[in-house]
Amino acid sequence: MHTQPEFLTLRRHLESIIVGQHQLLDRIMIGLLTGGHLLLESAPGLAKTTAVKAVASGVHAGFQRIQFTPDLMPADITGSEVFDPKTGDFRFVEGPLFKEIILADEINRAPPKVQSALLEAMEEQQVTIAGKSHRLPDLFVVMATQNPLEQAGTYPLPEAQLDRFLLHVVIDYPSEEEEFQILERDRRLHFGADQQAVESQLQPATVLAARREVAEIHLEESVKRYMVSLVNATRHPEKWLPDWRDHIHYGASPRATLALARAASAHAYLQGRAYVIPDDVIDVAADVLRHRMILSFTAKAKQLSANDLIKGLVDAIPVP
Ligand SMILES: Nc1ncnc2c1ncn2[C@@H]1O[C@H](COP(=O)(O)OP(=O)(O)O)[C@@H](O)[C@H]1O
Ligand SMILES: [Mg+2]
Repeated sequence: MHTQPEFLTLRRHLESIIVGQHQLLDRIMIGLLTGGHLLLESAPGLAKTTAVKAVASGVHAGFQRIQFTPDLMPADITGSEVFDPKTGDFRFVEGPLFKEIILADEINRAPPKVQSALLEAMEEQQVTIAGKSHRLPDLFVVMATQNPLEQAGTYPLPEAQLDRFLLHVVIDYPSEEEEFQILERDRRLHFGADQQAVESQLQPATVLAARREVAEIHLEESVKRYMVSLVNATRHPEKWLPDWRDHIHYGASPRATLALARAASAHAYLQGRAYVIPDDVIDVAADVLRHRMILSFTAKAKQLSANDLIKGLVDAIPVP
């Protein structure tokens, strides 16, 4: 656990820029620590873009913001083969995706073709163009943002590919006190910036070393069984809550179980623990599971959300 202090510095760096939103900052750290991609969702103006830029400014690695717009083409993000008149041959020119930290901003404003190109690259950590594969950086991690889907002019992400995201984080409005602090901080910046961001220079090698440590975090058999029960319960909720027999149309896949283990391990690491406890699992469960299940009409008619169902199942399943 020797790399952990550098992550605490990064955390303080983020907190010196973003007021509150602890859950969001926590999830950003988990993404970095696992290489797991994040889908960050909220109404506009809740610091999604600012938070991802803040993490990039605290890590000594390549950063690219890709603004997703209706006219974007897949090649605009992946790169393409171009003819080189000097050699008389084609050569691959890398697109903006070939950077360590990617902010895929307002991802649901681009058409499905572009979204698919991104999701494929996320899944395979490579881009395949004209039959040739090009590997993305070791540190590669995508932090995508989206506004709520009801907004006009948006394309929902393909449901079947949403599980490429390790976590789907839904961000809420700040409290009144936090909003006051946001205003204060903005005014201070405006009038001569007496408060500088906490300096963080996290090195890529440190991040990669930490990822290896996270992968080796101890998982007790009882904790593994608990995670499996939780994911299985999204397929068979009636096992725990008989009334919920036909509430979930599609449950989470085994990929969710692996994601739960990764996210819970990173959560334990951030607490300075070398082993996962059930509380780590409970803390990340909703963000790991909410985008991996499809509710039935029955559940929707009762106005239940994925969040409600996950909470109900977590409450119902005995903690080891
Ligand atoms: N919790 C917060 N802490 C600091 N600044 C915030 C916070 N929430 C909103 N802001 C400020 O509000 C503005 C909008 O943030 P932005 O990151 O563009 O939102 P989003 O990407 O979610 O639409 C920025 O100027 C940002 O600094
Ligand atoms: Mg934004």
